[in-house]
Amino acid sequence: MQSSNHVLRAGVVGAGAFGRNHARVYRDLQADPSQNVEFVGIVDTDFPRAQTVANEFGTSAFRSIDELIAAGVQACSVAVPTAAHLEVARHLMQNGVDVVIEKPLATTVAEADELIAIAEQHGRVAQAGHLERFNPAVRATFPLLTKPMFFEVHRLSVFSPRSLDVDVVLDLMIHDLDIVLAFVQSPVKEVRAVGLPILSQKVDIANVRMEFESGCVANFTASRVSTERVRKLRFFQPRQYVSLDYSRQDVLVLTVDDLSPDPAGMDPFNPASVVASALPGITPFRPAVAQQEPLRAELDSFLRAVRQRSRPEVTLEDGRRVLALAMQVVEAIAEHSRRVHLAELTRTPS
Ligand SMILES: NC(=O)c1ccc[n+]([C@@H]2O[C@H](COP(=O)([O-])OP(=O)(O)OC[C@H]3O[C@@H](n4cnc5c(N)ncnc54)[C@H](O)[C@@H]3O)[C@@H](O)[C@H]2O)c1
Repeated sequence: MQSSNHVLRAGVVGAGAFGRNHARVYRDLQADPSQNVEFVGIVDTDFPRAQTVANEFGTSAFRSIDELIAAGVQACSVAVPTAAHLEVARHLMQNGVDVVIEKPLATTVAEADELIAIAEQHGRVAQAGHLERFNPAVRATFPLLTKPMFFEVHRLSVFSPRSLDVDVVLDLMIHDLDIVLAFVQSPVKEVRAVGLPILSQKVDIANVRMEFESGCVANFTASRVSTERVRKLRFFQPRQYVSLDYSRQDVLVLTVDDLSPDPAGMDPFNPASVVASALPGITPFRPAVAQQEPLRAELDSFLRAVRQRSRPEVTLEDGRRVLALAMQVVEAIAEHSRRVHLAELTRTPS
């Protein structure tokens, strides 16, 4: 058996916008001798694209996954379009390679199930690429959770002609669905949603109201046709408000101080009783957040799991669960759209 600090040979399949980021991080890991990582190469069906990224990050370009396997890759990022995740990850896992698969895990839950089965059958470490779990602001928030009851989440970005093979729910909102599922730890009871295609043929802006068995309610808005870039999650739990900014990697907690003079006599649902009491003070607190690129933290964690042959921090089952929820949102949007005859309303005049 190999020691856990042996040199690990990493690779990337997919040299597009996001695969390039994986390549940059593996280049950085290779440059740090304490990491014992060798970046063996990158594959793309568009070979010149693989060559460009390989040249930029000092690695080899390959025309096929078989060439990357022959070069000895052991741990690999799958950063091809979602529709190709299954085919690429299956090929790698069947040949003994551990994988981290970009989000969304697959285009259907059935494909996600197949990925889970293949990983199990071949004894592979397989991680779902939900990188916001590794955002230091999210990590700093986990210890603060008591009983979150109300979430307000916004993920807005300006339009760019990328990831248009999936709608905004699978492209952007899925990040927040994954985080809220991890925070709430309760089954989803009801999903109501509205969504519209604006600049593409798929839903570009969506709003969802989700209720959990715990009674928690979460409102999500995701847009890829905004004029501004916002990535914020705010929630309320008893006597606390928590505001998390994914982009700034910043968390603000406002806690209501002990009520005085007679908190027992105060009924928060009776305004007269609240006014009769002294108004509470509010204490702000910013937990320490050690800034780090989430993708670097994600790949560090993946390679650690590969070395230790341990369960990854974000499993394929996590990826499947949030994919199933995202599909439920997509269906709720379609149901709303049918109900209000949206196709007729949005049809461009001929
Ligand atoms: N985690 C995040 O925040 C985040 C952000 C953006 C994209 N992504 C995900 O990353 C993945 C890639 O997205 P992107 O924006 O880089 O896409 P992209 O279209 O820019 O790049 C995909 C690349 O894969 C190549 N390719 C396609 N099929 C292939 C195959 N079978 N074998 C080898 N190469 C193949 C294409 O030629 C292209 O170069 C998607 O799953 C996307 O959802 C994740």
